[in-house]
Amino acid sequence: MPSKKQGSNTQQPGQQRVLSGMRPTGRLHLGHLHGVLNNWLRLQEEYECFFFVADWHALTTHYGDSSIFEDNVLDMVIDWLAAGVDPEKAALFVQSRVPQHAELHLLLSMVTPLSWLERVPSYKEIREQHKQQHSQQDRQQKLDTYGFLGYPLLQAADILIYRADHVPVGEDQVPHVELTREIARRFNHLYGRGPGNGESSSEKPAEAILTEPKSLLTAAPKMPGLDGQKMSKSYGNTISLREPTDSVVKKIKTMPTDPARVRRSDPGDPEKCPVWQLHQVYSDRKTQDWVMQGCRSADIGCIECKQPVIDRVAAELAPIQAAAQPYEKDPQQVKDIIARGCQQAQAAAQETLTEVRQAIGITRW
Ligand code: TRP
Ligand code: SF4
Repeated sequence: MPSKKQGSNTQQPGQQRVLSGMRPTGRLHLGHLHGVLNNWLRLQEEYECFFFVADWHALTTHYGDSSIFEDNVLDMVIDWLAAGVDPEKAALFVQSRVPQHAELHLLLSMVTPLSWLERVPSYKEIREQHKQQHSQQDRQQKLDTYGFLGYPLLQAADILIYRADHVPVGEDQVPHVELTREIARRFNHLYGRGPGNGESSSEKPAEAILTEPKSLLTAAPKMPGLDGQKMSKSYGNTISLREPTDSVVKKIKTMPTDPARVRRSDPGDPEKCPVWQLHQVYSDRKTQDWVMQGCRSADIGCIECKQPVIDRVAAELAPIQAAAQPYEKDPQQVKDIIARGCQQAQAAAQETLTEVRQAIGITRW
């Protein structure tokens, strides 16, 4: 019997490719589950998928505390697997183990105007944020580096090296995919095969070597955090996917509510309460009506109101936590999955890189 091949080696003819990456900056939480992972689960059924840990990208901003990476990388992949990302359907790998990304990044840097990088919105914004958050002496965290300017170009290389058709991203990342498209276009114009190669644009366009990807925006609404702001590690308002149940219960029980409800007998307004935002994610119509009505009339208390949310979050996390256990006990299993994913990624990446080298004229003999 022929051995079962791993997911991305069994590409169907005409099947489109999806690629996405996540920086390993800590445990994944409900925001990642609702915003990213559930989307990946759908995509892996339909597309040839490559999902990777963007550890080099994390290094552009966290080069001063790189020791966190080793654990974070493994933990992140455990979170993916526990949420249902299937290594038989998607190649799961780590960016720094596929050095082809770096070679393409270098080659693309030759044709990328500085101004294209400087005008990427996240560049100035994040640099300014960091300047405010870190003191002058804190030189480790300064972001006036070559690597940080190149962040979106490295991302372009990540995407183009797999000739990805679709890149599932959040809204903040759309400019990066747009830049990727421009770079692909420029590269194809300069180095595309056949007529049209070179600078004369009047001729028929050259055959594309790199594929222009499209952003795949998730429709998922923003996941509210424990304080009503968007759930995010930097706000300290998260519930992590592997949060123990007693901690989930405690976090929700201590969530702030409508400040108008000082006493149990004071009526409240769900629109002013972060718990209501969670009901909108987790509760059915009937429960939502019960909250609306019960809160405004002071028929229910806040602890009572929180219980259905506690139950739903706990029920959502239970299978994820059960699925994480075998991987936590046997990290070698995870390392093996990553090793196989890296091989698949390297094979796909090398194909593109060989053509890119030939197109530029760097051939090996
Ligand atoms: N920049 C992305 C983020 O911060 C992570 C990332 C790196 C990425 N390379 C990628 C996402 C390629 C999609 C495709 O979330
Ligand atoms: Fe919020 Fe529910 Fe309390 Fe109303 S009853 S304030 S919606 S927790």
